[in-house]
Amino acid sequence: MDLFEYQARDLFEKHGVPVLKGIVATTAEEAKAAAEEIGGVTVVKAQVKVGGRGKAGGVKVAKTADEAFEYAQQILGMDIKGHTVNRVMIAQGADIAEEYYFSLLLDRANRTYLAMCSVEGGMEIEQLAKERPEALAKVEVNPAEGLNEAKAEEIVKAAGFPEDIQSDVAAVLVKLGEVYDKEDATLVEVNPLVKTGDGKILALDGKVSLDDNAEFRQPEHESLVDKSAENPLEAKAKANDLNYVKLDGEVGIIGNGAGLVMSTLDVVAYAGENHGNVKPANFLDIGGGASAEVMAAGLDVILNDEQVKSVFVNVFGGITACDAVANGIVKALEILGDKASKPLVVRLDGNNVEEGRKILNEANHPLVHQAETMDSGADKAAELAHEA
Ligand SMILES: Nc1ncnc2c1ncn2[C@@H]1O[C@H](COP(=O)(O)OP(=O)(O)OP(=O)(O)O)[C@@H](O)[C@H]1O
Ligand SMILES: [Mg+2]
Repeated sequence: MDLFEYQARDLFEKHGVPVLKGIVATTAEEAKAAAEEIGGVTVVKAQVKVGGRGKAGGVKVAKTADEAFEYAQQILGMDIKGHTVNRVMIAQGADIAEEYYFSLLLDRANRTYLAMCSVEGGMEIEQLAKERPEALAKVEVNPAEGLNEAKAEEIVKAAGFPEDIQSDVAAVLVKLGEVYDKEDATLVEVNPLVKTGDGKILALDGKVSLDDNAEFRQPEHESLVDKSAENPLEAKAKANDLNYVKLDGEVGIIGNGAGLVMSTLDVVAYAGENHGNVKPANFLDIGGGASAEVMAAGLDVILNDEQVKSVFVNVFGGITACDAVANGIVKALEILGDKASKPLVVRLDGNNVEEGRKILNEANHPLVHQAETMDSGADKAAELAHEA
């Protein structure tokens, strides 16, 4: 999960990284009140999970609270690279003498953490990395040791910080390493890290990505999820532990095993070419042990997608044999009752296929069509979606 800047700022503060005051606002009135509360010069900053906000006009210095009001009015609702600005952060203005760059990230390819640091930070860092890569120090950080004091000193030396501020910067890097470690982050980036006129080191901007795999031991991270940006169907699927991705199509897909589901998407897209170009509506892998409840939860998510006109259930019976899957489908339709309102093409194969087909035949549900093969099932599902 990527965080908004204001959320990153809060995490920084929690771990003792020096930051300035910041108050989040969703209206220009709130922005003005925040600017009054902070006092003096403030900066109105668009809160979107994308880089390059400053260059896009999403970061403006306000000398007065009235100016903060005006800028907030301009910035709220703005579109930055496809992201709508729904909130701004009113940040205390800093007297910047110098801008630096620092990031710590998970380097998967090399199975290590990587710190990157430069004395030439600010909005042109991407360009710097391309044109003068030697100005961006890259230092491996051993995950077992973390970003300790010795490592922080190595990083500031490699980046070429002047000696008089090396220890101050290193102290901030250690704190940022703590954020990375304690919060189970995969990225902590500060651009710019600044030196102020009176020689203080401050994190003026923050980008943090948290590792979703660590959710179980980070209960506080739940509150950082941006519910407004979540697709409601994906949220519902997640609540039921289903691997679901919404796509832009008409044929709902349920399968067991990620590989089978991926090929089902291809086969349905191909079949759709003969039926008004209908396309798969989603990816949904119900996994190996598909119980009736899991099947019902999966069907429920898919049937709630208004775009869906038909559903293709493509299951290869393995450890969970076809008769268990067929019973699951029958029970799922019972559980859903009137909510099951779209035609269902079911293709079963593999372990106990005969018993499975027999169960579906005997149940004789008006919405269920059986298919012998994956291709014929995809074709039928596409045809039904096109007709609807
Ligand atoms: N609190 C502040 N006080 C003074 N100047 C600031 C403050 N925050 C940001 N700035 C200035 O605005 C510039 C851009 O701000 P910031 O780094 O937050 O956004 P950005 O880099 O454009 O966005 P992103 O990091 O998402 O690409 C900074 O490099 C800095 O010069
Ligand atoms: Mg920045």
